[in-house]
Amino acid sequence: MARQPRLLMIDPAWFDVSYAINPWMRPDAWSADAAGCARAARHAFEALRSALTRAGAAVEVIAGAPGLPDMVFPANAGVVLNGRALVGRFFHAERQGEEPRFLAAFRALQAHGRLHDVAQLPEGCFQEGAGDCIWDARRGWFWAGFGQRSIREAAKAVGEHFGRDVVALELVSPRFYHLDTCFCPVSGGEVLYYPPAFTPRALAEIRERVPADQLIEASDTDAAGLCVNAVSLGRTLVMAQPPERLRRVLGERGYQVDAVNLAPFILAGGAAFCMTLRLDHIAAPAAVAAE
Ligand code: ARG
Repeated sequence: MARQPRLLMIDPAWFDVSYAINPWMRPDAWSADAAGCARAARHAFEALRSALTRAGAAVEVIAGAPGLPDMVFPANAGVVLNGRALVGRFFHAERQGEEPRFLAAFRALQAHGRLHDVAQLPEGCFQEGAGDCIWDARRGWFWAGFGQRSIREAAKAVGEHFGRDVVALELVSPRFYHLDTCFCPVSGGEVLYYPPAFTPRALAEIRERVPADQLIEASDTDAAGLCVNAVSLGRTLVMAQPPERLRRVLGERGYQVDAVNLAPFILAGGAAFCMTLRLDHIAAPAAVAAE
């Protein structure tokens, strides 16, 4: 029987939009109805948790912290593979206070036997976790975004830490500032991506490695709804409410979309994928050249 996917989520009690470190963030829209937005965020969080559970995942929820309103996006906290967590380094001062919190959270998971190793990247080696370093379970390598939040050198550091290949992709748009906003490897091997977010060089890297018939292009509307920021669980994709066309395209390939209204989190520039962190990815041993 396949292993049950395990996901970490962060309780949104301290979530709000009170600063702007990406173009999606609208503190004015939040403060116009802070109580209503907080209620909607709680509702959206519960809806996402239910959808993930329905799709077969075990979801573990830990507390956020006052003064760290973006600490609802655990995908940015670190990269996890084979039970080993590599804690990231946030680019913006506004989120750097999350680092010690997440470090403690990972150590607690280690104490409970859910992780067996926790390490940290060197200071200044900006790397915003799985949001910018996505494990491609089908292909057995990481895809890493750089140029907005994470630095190119970080991709190399992650590769060395885990002993796996990393394909580094340069991001060009402040609106698609993490790889997970514009790139999503799907369980069957397809990749849903938004080409305008990448440099020509990065597009070439993608197209060299993923056959054309496995590439699914997201439209401007799909990307604007943060639908690419999806969690792929078996044949289900849990994502922010997609336009009908995207649902149909995925349906034709045998995927069923479980759509969740994530509007309050989109106001912070995040959606389904970055509200979670996969803890259970296991890599098959790296291929050793045959004699
Ligand atoms: N407000 C957060 C930030 O700008 C949102 C992070 C969303 N995470 C993601 N991986 N897309 O850092």
